[in-house]
Amino acid sequence: MNATIRPACRLSGEIGIPGDKSISHRAIMLGAISRGITRVKNFPANQDCLSTIKAFEQMGIEIQTSSNEILVYGKGLRGLTAPSKPIDAGNSGTTARLLAGILAGQSFESMLDGDASLRKRPMKRVIEPLSMMGAKIAARDGGFLPLHISGGRLKGIEYTLPIASAQVKSAILLALLYANSPGTVHQPVISRDHTELMLKQFGGNIGISQHSITLTPVPDLYGQDITVPGDISSAAFFITAALLVPGSCIKIRNVGINPTRTGILDVYKRMGATIDIENVRNAEAEPVADIIVSASRLKGTTIEGDIIPRLIDEIPIIALAATQAEGTTVIRDAQELKVKESDRIKTVVDMLKGFGADIEATDDGMIIRGPSGLRGCKTAPTMDHRIAMTAAVVGLVASGETVITGAEWADISFPGFFDEINKLRS
Ligand code: S3P
Repeated sequence: MNATIRPACRLSGEIGIPGDKSISHRAIMLGAISRGITRVKNFPANQDCLSTIKAFEQMGIEIQTSSNEILVYGKGLRGLTAPSKPIDAGNSGTTARLLAGILAGQSFESMLDGDASLRKRPMKRVIEPLSMMGAKIAARDGGFLPLHISGGRLKGIEYTLPIASAQVKSAILLALLYANSPGTVHQPVISRDHTELMLKQFGGNIGISQHSITLTPVPDLYGQDITVPGDISSAAFFITAALLVPGSCIKIRNVGINPTRTGILDVYKRMGATIDIENVRNAEAEPVADIIVSASRLKGTTIEGDIIPRLIDEIPIIALAATQAEGTTVIRDAQELKVKESDRIKTVVDMLKGFGADIEATDDGMIIRGPSGLRGCKTAPTMDHRIAMTAAVVGLVASGETVITGAEWADISFPGFFDEINKLRS
């Protein structure tokens, strides 16, 4: 599908955002391995979450979906049944890595696979700790999907994460549910903590001291009601669009503002953005608020160190904002970008250069000099939803017409994204 984007004069109005993808994956997974029903409200109908639903259906879990709510009929920690064919995680790294942790704890064998992009992404990071716990995992070329997992009989380990990855941390915590002794994960840099919060909500025995999480196995978890907050990683595209299109002012309702995810707001405020957070409240375990954004003159900044995991998925769109900021923006310590849905250092730099930005790639990030006038062009998002959506926001601020080929990649996290953007034009 091609999407054609023309420059916007002003964005205004109010929007809601689909539910958070990270939280939704976890709600399905914990719901499936808990006793009783888990009701998930504001569930997003994206491709990645659908991959997680299908995986658990293949393991005998009934999941009823209606417009934006799902019911997961959990069968308890030991209620999954062997899948009759390989589980396909599609494009979703979170599905593959977190599921590897659950499969490691099962007494049956399973195969885990994914699409061409996911097959290129490293799995050694989960294979290593899960093997230390006692799982037997065979991987293509030693570290890539498909994985063949023979699980069961796990023991608790103490493990220091070599990279700041919530997916690896979560895979270990989920496997620890099946271990015969407690285990601890030490995280040198804090990453998103949705698994920890949700495990507590479902009755897990989890102790958290700033950088360490200890999980003591319990006989069972119990199904819960979850209202998924709007995904700040999806809101990021609208926040950035409103900052960059002159005269704009928009309100985004119901956005998750878990502090492990709000690095983008901190960086934009440092760059001079006018962003107000209103109506702060809790949706069960997670904080939620409305975000009001007005067009702002931005200045360059340096983004590095511990903030990186708090905004890793937002770097493509932050890079666009930096092209419009006065001065130089340097992004460092973000080498993890190379192993996302695409090599996002390369794909972001190549794409923004194509529009006329002054941007260069470095080993662990990028350097962007602004402001530069962008010119619309034809661009392809290379199997990466966040690159497709970033390109759409470029189209709003670039002169002339922008054509995105393969625009359907946005459906991986945000079906209907292009319609939402158009609704805000005034
Ligand atoms: C995610 C963790 C992050 C993030 C991804 C979702 C999660 O990945 O980039 O989009 O839901 O746990 P890493 O754990 O690889 O950093």
